Amino acid sequence: MIELVNIKKGFGDKIILPDVSAVMETGKVNLIIGSSGSGKTVMMKCMVGLMPVDEGKILYDGRDFTNMSEHEKKEVRQQIGMLFQGSALFDSMTVEENVMFPLEMFGKGSIKDKRNRVMECLERVQLKDAAKKYPAEISGGMKKRVGIARAIVLNPKYLFCDEPNSGLDPQTSLLIDKLIKELTLEYNITTVINTHDMNTVMESGDHIVYMYKGRKQWEGSNKEIIFSKDEKLNDFIFASDFLRDAKEMRQMEMFQSQDWRNKLKKD
Ligand SMILES: Nc1ncnc2c1ncn2[C@@H]1O[C@H](COP(=O)(O)OP(=O)(O)OP(=O)(O)O)[C@@H](O)[C@H]1O
Ligand SMILES: [Mg+2]
Repeated sequence: MIELVNIKKGFGDKIILPDVSAVMETGKVNLIIGSSGSGKTVMMKCMVGLMPVDEGKILYDGRDFTNMSEHEKKEVRQQIGMLFQGSALFDSMTVEENVMFPLEMFGKGSIKDKRNRVMECLERVQLKDAAKKYPAEISGGMKKRVGIARAIVLNPKYLFCDEPNSGLDPQTSLLIDKLIKELTLEYNITTVINTHDMNTVMESGDHIVYMYKGRKQWEGSNKEIIFSKDEKLNDFIFASDFLRDAKEMRQMEMFQSQDWRNKLKKD
């Protein structure tokens, strides 16, 4: 579990995150959503320590990351896997070498063990056959999968993905989401995804944090979004007439389910 406690972050006089508190739950895909410029990437960079926070604390399973020694921080960083926007693969290295890179930097064990681990991860993302290819020779979706294999090669406890679906078609996006979700459940990872992909939100949003102008505006699950009365959230998610109609239809469907009637009564 990752906790953000009263995080404040700005650049010069410009305050980007005035005061954010949130919890990223273990074994779940936690989504951070919000329009462009709402502070998602800044928040993620603060969480992984790529940017220092001005105030507040970030706790990794209770350990205060913000006040750790460099040595302790390094230990936490080794438990973090990150999928960067645009995959950020090394063009001069093969797929296999790209996935090997973190193992060479931080991994323990023999060369043979490391090679086996690389092939295990490539198999997991169904890319064993592309091991000897260079990034320029594979598709965008395949590059994302190489990025995922590289992010999980050190068995991370925490996985961060900034816009994992940008530039992908809806079907490939869903496959990437499914893969990230499966890995999260399989290894009980605390996964955090920045996205503005509505398919991701509706399909895999167990826990969603909606950011509006640097503040946490709403928090809940994809099921709760359907019934949320938060106007800003609704304007953001259901931006078109088509989606507003779809929401009403889904509301009617869900309303017919007894569980939901009971839950709404309780709330
Ligand atoms: N290094 C920086 N220096 C100054 N301002 C920055 C820096 N990084 C981000 N910002 C500003 O912080 C604000 C939030 O940016 P951020 O990249 O977090 O948005 P985002 O929600 O990730 O948007 P997008 O959906 O477009 O990726 C923007 O106004 C941006 O200009
Ligand atoms: Mg961003």
